[in-house]
Amino acid sequence: MKPNLSTTICGVPLKNPLIAASGTCGFGREFAQFYPLETWGGLSLKGTTLHPREGNANPRIAETPLGMLNSVGLQNPGIDAFLRDELPHLAQIDIARIANVAGDTVEDMAAVVAKLRGTAIDLIELNISCPNVKAGGMAFGIVPESVEATTRAVKAACEQPLIVKLSPNVADIAENARAAERGGADALSLINTLTGMAIDPVARTPILARVTGGLSGPAIKPVALRMVYEAAKAVSIPLIGMGGIMTGRDVVEFLLAGASAVMVGTASIADPMAGPRILAELESFLAEQGVADLRELVGALQV
Ligand code: SIN
Repeated sequence: MKPNLSTTICGVPLKNPLIAASGTCGFGREFAQFYPLETWGGLSLKGTTLHPREGNANPRIAETPLGMLNSVGLQNPGIDAFLRDELPHLAQIDIARIANVAGDTVEDMAAVVAKLRGTAIDLIELNISCPNVKAGGMAFGIVPESVEATTRAVKAACEQPLIVKLSPNVADIAENARAAERGGADALSLINTLTGMAIDPVARTPILARVTGGLSGPAIKPVALRMVYEAAKAVSIPLIGMGGIMTGRDVVEFLLAGASAVMVGTASIADPMAGPRILAELESFLAEQGVADLRELVGALQV
């Protein structure tokens, strides 16, 4: 029998638990040339700000053992261009549409979510964890008091359910998860990237123009699993887990740790067909294990 892969996040249906992670699929057009976008349960779109941003200087990507560093700097066309040029094609697709919202100030982020009211966006992911910008980004997401206040202010302007994307570059992920929940978050996504750097030993320079960047990929999976597990014990809102998911079995590990759905990012950069492959692997693994419904696995880790 085919296992049931469908689930919901804050009442929004997902036909399967795989969501393309923000920043790895632009606004969806990149994947659409390889396979139907509807393959994914959801799409978290590139971090969008009130005004267009050009992003950081190049080089802004570096390969690392078992992962990659990025320092994109939230390059995006701004919310008005997104609404005009990107959302209409996404609105035709059977997929959960998640807007990833970032900003230099809390007021900017609130203004962006206000512009998303009444649109085809189903969920909003508040990015208070980007390590690659001078103002905003991770600066809002480190200290629990700031996580709570930022979440509360943005939530007040928000019509759709609000997912807060947490940074792993913190002392205690459980404390920050609780802070976001107190601020009114409807769900959490974690983890964003870990701050890292790469060095060219011949040139004696950093490889990234901005010196540091965010590390993603399988190298961070054990950290991500630990943080999802700790956050799941700390809050009662749903979690979306991410960090180095490359296979169907990885998805199951995140579900067992307490995630209700997962985001897949770096895997698609290494292999554009990773999304459909991981989905097929997940389905076979559940069938082999006799799991009729993937929701049975959420938080089912036996410790
Ligand atoms: C970036 O645009 O620099 C990456 C976004 C993020 O890490 O949240």
